[in-house]
Amino acid sequence: MAVLRFPETNQKIEDEQRIRAELAAAGIDYERWSLDRVAQDCSADDVLSAYAAEVDAMKKRGGYVTADVIDVTPEMPGLETMLARFDKEHTHSEDEVRFILAGRGIFFLHLDGKVYSVEVGPGDMLRVPRGTTHWFTLCEDRRIRAIRWFQQTEGWTPHYTESGVDKGYQPLCFGPDYFGARAGRAISLDKNA
Ligand SMILES: [Fe+2]
Repeated sequence: MAVLRFPETNQKIEDEQRIRAELAAAGIDYERWSLDRVAQDCSADDVLSAYAAEVDAMKKRGGYVTADVIDVTPEMPGLETMLARFDKEHTHSEDEVRFILAGRGIFFLHLDGKVYSVEVGPGDMLRVPRGTTHWFTLCEDRRIRAIRWFQQTEGWTPHYTESGVDKGYQPLCFGPDYFGARAGRAISLDKNA
């Protein structure tokens, strides 16, 4: 379940319908999709075949030609370098469409001078139209698995705005997995003591 925040006013919205309405008013699609179709440890091919209907429907909806599954873990080589590509304000020449299967992250959307912080987690589908100024970061557990859709077979590249707006916002996650990860870490540290 997503958490929508407006950092300037400390407003936090956790109700699904309200999140959908707020984002829809800004041109961003947000939906909740079922997660009970695949096991947590299934392969990318299994994911794409289990969600074939949604994958195809989304392709038609946005003119996307391909879809894949990205799987990010804390152990991934070069993870911080990869994350640093996307944690500065940028745009893309195509939509950024994600259905989150596992892990959590935050999309900061900069729309009409207002910053929206959208923390996404398992079951959340977010569609950010091309040209939207935004940046993205993972939550503390550095984990995300998601289906992605693409309009061009060669993939997409960030176009940096160099606005510096991203520097004014802390990448703080507030969802349940964030606190779970912190609690888990505290317990494992105790065991090592
Ligand atoms: Fe992006």
